[in-house]
Amino acid sequence: MSGSQIRKVAVLGAGLMGHGIAQVCAQTAGYDVALLDVKQEFVDRGMSMIKDSLARFVSKGALDKQKADAILTKIHPTTDLEVALEGVQLVIEAATEDPKLKLGLYRRVAEYLPPGAVLASNTSSISITLLGSATKNPENVAGMHFFNPPQLMPLIEIIRGARTSDSTVETVRAAAKQMGKETVLCKKDSPGFIVNRILIPLLNDCIRVIDEAGITVEDLDTALRYGAGWPMGPAALVDLIGLDIHVHASEALHEKLAEPRMAPPARLVRMANAGKLGRKSGEGFYRY
Ligand SMILES: NC(=O)c1ccc[n+]([C@@H]2O[C@H](COP(=O)([O-])OP(=O)(O)OC[C@H]3O[C@@H](n4cnc5c(N)ncnc54)[C@H](O)[C@@H]3O)[C@@H](O)[C@H]2O)c1
Repeated sequence: MSGSQIRKVAVLGAGLMGHGIAQVCAQTAGYDVALLDVKQEFVDRGMSMIKDSLARFVSKGALDKQKADAILTKIHPTTDLEVALEGVQLVIEAATEDPKLKLGLYRRVAEYLPPGAVLASNTSSISITLLGSATKNPENVAGMHFFNPPQLMPLIEIIRGARTSDSTVETVRAAAKQMGKETVLCKKDSPGFIVNRILIPLLNDCIRVIDEAGITVEDLDTALRYGAGWPMGPAALVDLIGLDIHVHASEALHEKLAEPRMAPPARLVRMANAGKLGRKSGEGFYRY
């Protein structure tokens, strides 16, 4: 299926990632979108995050108000899975990162999914092969891993499960292109895929060097910016990602790969437990 043959997409989960993915589908790809969550209040919160984001595009002069209003009319909030999946060519699942929850959801999706529709998961750490096994057609299931915030981050990692078909990979790739994104293909369903597999242990190493070399946080960031050409220092990057998200992703990777570098450094765990989550809580390595 080509990107323009897709007309309706369902996004499952209206949280941090789901609302942004729904917005990109409507705003850049021009798709009609059903945005689903388990409770009306969660769907409403997702819609209000989309409105805020569109308003920011308008205030920056990147979008005119009429277009923003037209984009909003393309997104249809719902709590009814059957309604959400009616007539879709593509489903993007961005529900809570919990294998049991997702497997239950995939079994229900399999009941209503139109024949030939592709089911793509935005999971960061759950096996695509495992998720596919909960459906009737695992060949139609792939990974479609966006980065936060989906409205601004230009990459999508596409992941092949053990039974994913070539045509499913092509449909996901075409949809990603229609959303204006760059894509990379992970041919093996491997822990952390590409970016997280590399970035998480690398950031952990950086944070460990603070104590090993007795340096300040500012010097760590200065060293990598001016000595390695990073656009942003590692401590500032962890603050942006969110310490809780990083610690969680690190633990998930460590569970699968069992290498010491994958485990979150004690300093990060202490900070996250103390509520120093980075930008979103107003304090992490830096104050905001
Ligand atoms: N946060 C990130 O930076 C990031 C980046 C890439 C991928 N991801 C992945 O995206 C997915 C969502 O993460 P998030 O950060 O948006 O989480 P979130 O907690 O902000 O949102 C998850 C949403 O899913 C909803 N949900 C739970 N069960 C559901 C169901 N059965 N049907 C529909 N909706 C349901 C929840 O109510 C919630 O609103 C996860 O798989 C995560 O690994 C997250």
